[in-house]
Amino acid sequence: MLSNSIGRNLPWLGTLKRKTLQTSLAVILPVLSASAMAESLTIGFSQIGSESGWRTSETESIKAEAERRGYDLKFSDAQQKQENQIKAVRSFISQGVDGILLAPVVETGWDSVLKEAKRLDIPVVLVDRGVAADPSLYLTKVASDFKEEGSLAASWLAAETNGRCNIVELQGTVGSSAAIDRKDGFAAVIENFPNMNVIRSQSGDFTRAGGKEVMESFLKAEGDASNICALFAHNDDMALGAVLAMKEAGVEPAKDIIVLSIDGVPDIFKAMMDHEANATIELNPHLGGPAFDAILAHRDGKEVDKWIKANGPLYLPDTAEQEYAKRK
Ligand code: AHR
Repeated sequence: MLSNSIGRNLPWLGTLKRKTLQTSLAVILPVLSASAMAESLTIGFSQIGSESGWRTSETESIKAEAERRGYDLKFSDAQQKQENQIKAVRSFISQGVDGILLAPVVETGWDSVLKEAKRLDIPVVLVDRGVAADPSLYLTKVASDFKEEGSLAASWLAAETNGRCNIVELQGTVGSSAAIDRKDGFAAVIENFPNMNVIRSQSGDFTRAGGKEVMESFLKAEGDASNICALFAHNDDMALGAVLAMKEAGVEPAKDIIVLSIDGVPDIFKAMMDHEANATIELNPHLGGPAFDAILAHRDGKEVDKWIKANGPLYLPDTAEQEYAKRK
């Protein structure tokens, strides 16, 4: 493994005589690992879009980390379309980048393009979301366990309501691992409580506008808002849109309806400070560091775990002011 990476970095070594080679390696090896760390890479980053505050933070954080390391980051915004992401990845491959970061909008449909990257030995790191493909087709996934987030949300809600609650759910983008796993993780806990039921569930596409529109339709369909005990939104932006819908309908968010979501963006902490949201689970947007480190480790011939997990805690209004100040 090590010799492979030496060969790749220092091809001229092959011309040295055996004895000279041994002496030279002793001198070169410590220098080499330091230089591998400082290697300047060209990395392609296919981002989903900018549907949420969290997504924007993730983009900014990855760009800043690349700049800090002196990497050439080729960035592509797919505007929520998988076909754009596939085109971007193909273009990165044809440019011969050193590695690719892919935030896949949906789980399925990646096999062909991942095989193309693998054939040319270009490591692909999934950032934030997962794919339903053979794990040997990508280097690693740097992401939170979305099922765990859903379970944590449901466990907190069960404790808060003594296991009695009619829930409306705002799902994320249809077909995304974030929406599928958060829904499953939540449902797996709720099914242990006979008096907790998800009475309505629909996608708001991870956007504020989507959350508002779907919450309006939930309120209209229920007629009496007191039928709804809690909102579980798969992200903060949809929760914030739903808060607006509640206020416009004369319903007090966080009092009449519990507001629970995921991400931990500054605006949700602000909403907690304003007594309009009850809880959020943090999703760490700083995925660039571990993703780039995984590519470097791979170039060094080291084994890389298939899933580098980044789960965050659940926050309540009591610490909202501090958390808001940290993130602003
Ligand atoms: O994949 C993570 C989700 O995607 C975040 O929760 C959401 O805000 C984003 O758009």
